[in-house]
Amino acid sequence: MVVTPWEVRGEIDYTRLIKEFGVEPLTEELLQRMKKMVGELHFMLRRKIFFSHRDFDKVLEDREKGEKIYLYTGRGPSGHTHIGHIVPWIFTRYLQKVFNATLYFQITDDEKFLVKRNLSVKQALYYTYENSLDLIALGFKPENTRIISDIKAIHLLYELAISVAKRVTFSTAKAVFGFEDESNIGIIFFPAIQAAPAFLGSKIEGRNLRCLIPCAIDQDPYWRVTRDVAPKLGYYKPAGIFSKFIPGLGVKGKMSASEPETCIFTVDKPEEAEKKIMNAFTGGQPTIEEQRRLGGKPEVCPIYLYYYFIFEEDDEKVFERERQCKNGELLCGECKRELAEKVSKFLVEHQKKREKAKDLVDKYMLTDLELG
Ligand code: TRP
Repeated sequence: MVVTPWEVRGEIDYTRLIKEFGVEPLTEELLQRMKKMVGELHFMLRRKIFFSHRDFDKVLEDREKGEKIYLYTGRGPSGHTHIGHIVPWIFTRYLQKVFNATLYFQITDDEKFLVKRNLSVKQALYYTYENSLDLIALGFKPENTRIISDIKAIHLLYELAISVAKRVTFSTAKAVFGFEDESNIGIIFFPAIQAAPAFLGSKIEGRNLRCLIPCAIDQDPYWRVTRDVAPKLGYYKPAGIFSKFIPGLGVKGKMSASEPETCIFTVDKPEEAEKKIMNAFTGGQPTIEEQRRLGGKPEVCPIYLYYYFIFEEDDEKVFERERQCKNGELLCGECKRELAEKVSKFLVEHQKKREKAKDLVDKYMLTDLELG
């Protein structure tokens, strides 16, 4: 198992990750405390798709006292957005609503330019724009959502970034991120840039507010460094709530943009997406007779996992599907067809909203005004 911000590979053992990364499990007690405050728990919490945290209890405490908090998440624009990317964004939208919080959304076009051999600045900025459309299409509002393109808006982060950078040694960066003598010097500085938005809300507000970062667990190395320097800068340590990875349509592993057949992009033609789903690997048996007799294996089936992670919010329905799969009532063809239909509907709607978003992008971009 390999889990770093730039590579996720192998069979992921989440219990082991909790120990190795030093994060906390999201306990039933915390979830109940959250439920008491906000009413309904999001299905990604009920299903432990978001499974671990740092200081989430402190966020709840702040909110219980009526204190403001803000959210921070982001995206590395190395290509078009796929369904796996929007899982944490959908969860972030829920957090934004129940916590009534501003969201800072960092698009690390600089990072992707630095780490992707074949990505030019121009291409990275193109995907910054394209990925922004997806965020906006999901229903985030310009009043409480600020998008930060690192390349375009670096001056808004720079003061914070150098303040962080001054307090992180090369040996720490090497130990945390595995940098080597061959690493380019841009990426060695980059963690300071990803740290900056964690303090931005407090800087803009002119007083300390807690920042909560919802994201996949692979980003945690950044937060370890960010949390170490936070007190030295006079800020709270950012809190985090971390998700598992959404699997791809291939055999095991997460959805990966470098294997286009294994993931569904938000810009895929609905027919294209349907075809990918119909051709996908499943947890089913080789023949109908065996499927009826032995049942399928939903726990290793990417089709089932799509329902589970994103396309079936209703717990009863998703567990009924699991049951029917396991006892051979449900065949893969049928299960795929239903998913293809759901995904295709989602894409049609999403793509309409994406078109509309084109006129709105400017309204979301963080500007000089807000920093005073
Ligand atoms: N480094 C992240 C990526 O490659 C992008 C990112 C920046 C991010 N800030 C973040 C992701 C905060 C989650 C939370 O995708």
